Amino acid sequence: MRALLCVKAQQLLSRGFIHPVRPAAAVRWQAAPSKLFCSSAPDGNNKPSSMLRHLTSKIKATGPIPVAEYMREVLTNPVKGYYVRSNMLGPEGDFITSPEISQIFGELIGVWIISEWMGAGQPKQLQLVELGPGKGSLASDVIRVFSQLQSVLGGASVSLHLVEVSPALSLLQAQNLTGNRSQEADAEDDLVYRRGETEAGLPVSWYRRLDDVPTGFSIFVAHEFFDALPIHKFQRTEKGWREVLVDIDPEKPDTLRFVVAPAPTLASTSLVQVSLDLHVSMFCSALVEGSSCRKQKGSCASGRGKPGSTGPSLLFLNSSSEGFKGHQLHDVLASPGSADLTADVDFNYLRRMAGGGVACLGPVTQNTFLKNMGIDTRMQILLRNCRDPSTRKQLISSYNMLTNPAKMGERFHFFSLLHPSRLAKPQKPQGLKLEKKKSPAPLPVAGFTELKFA
Ligand SMILES: C[S@@+](CC[C@H](N)C(=O)[O-])C[C@H]1O[C@@H](n2cnc3c(N)ncnc32)[C@H](O)[C@@H]1O
Repeated sequence: MRALLCVKAQQLLSRGFIHPVRPAAAVRWQAAPSKLFCSSAPDGNNKPSSMLRHLTSKIKATGPIPVAEYMREVLTNPVKGYYVRSNMLGPEGDFITSPEISQIFGELIGVWIISEWMGAGQPKQLQLVELGPGKGSLASDVIRVFSQLQSVLGGASVSLHLVEVSPALSLLQAQNLTGNRSQEADAEDDLVYRRGETEAGLPVSWYRRLDDVPTGFSIFVAHEFFDALPIHKFQRTEKGWREVLVDIDPEKPDTLRFVVAPAPTLASTSLVQVSLDLHVSMFCSALVEGSSCRKQKGSCASGRGKPGSTGPSLLFLNSSSEGFKGHQLHDVLASPGSADLTADVDFNYLRRMAGGGVACLGPVTQNTFLKNMGIDTRMQILLRNCRDPSTRKQLISSYNMLTNPAKMGERFHFFSLLHPSRLAKPQKPQGLKLEKKKSPAPLPVAGFTELKFA
């Protein structure tokens, strides 16, 4: 099975098809100093934005708000949120991500997904679930790999499930993945708010929440998603850990500032005990808990007892920084809603929240993961098939951006959560007890160990 995947992957890699190389631009990973007590006035013009007006009236009504609530409003408020109303990705936007830099990134994730599907015993149904798909570029590169490796996927029925909070981005995803073959749901409260199909007939569904995705064998991918989720921030004081809140500056009414809660809050009493890091994402942990519960329910994943069959896998990676606007670092409290906000993902916390019933792999650096997945071979083939000097230059520069340790290579990390049976030795078939043969080892998880070409 492994050999087959490797041979097929090699075939894919040797095809050397090149899609328009996405232009390089400033990326989201630049380091930002943590400004715990920064305060800022609105950008340039003196008129407070509608988001700032919304936040100040909220704070006036209820008092200072947790950083998590500030982030949730600024990023995903249904009317004014940053992700909800704009397309911020790409050279013309505020930041660029790995799938936007090069097609190779998504192609290698596609090979990883097929490898995991094989490691899970090749279930007849495969739901690919992507959390926060941005422009849909990663999913589109993955689907292309699926059609190239159709013979490996055999008769598996594959469907794509996108969890996206932004109507603007979901439209862009629909355009990129299905052309005109998608339709909005009739009722506003429909769990699937848009449905469509790709040119090759693969069904695509859009959801607002992970909980709404149907159960079934699923592989989850989340790229630059967990770091966009709301976090709580804490500060060590003489009286112990206290939560950092967002308040209005009493001296400048249209300006926000950070303050430290004078007394313990619900978050500081419940969360600081489990993590002494400066910030913790409750949403993140709920998501991980939710996904591991889903694993129990996924009967097609683990219930059939087929040797090697396992629950789903989750693959995601982390980035860090605070606010981005026009590819520049941006004060996180200035003109809220006009810039992206991100926070480092605490992998140790995620590991603890996942609990003992889930196997965790990584984090490994992006450089290690992509090299293990065969990025060097893929690059050589693309370059061999490409004569155009400017495309060659772009290929080399995007490869460098993705893998160079000083760029994204060591700044970004891959982390994977697996059903524990994925790494367990398959049981010996009954009736062979007298044979001294050892049980076969489980398939290694690609990316976290080197992918060998047969
Ligand atoms: C930083 S972008 C990353 C996009 C894409 N994965 C990439 O790497 O290019 C974050 C994505 O997550 C979505 N998102 C943010 N918060 C979300 C939430 N709470 N639920 C669902 N989607 C969310 C955004 O709309 C956006 O598509």
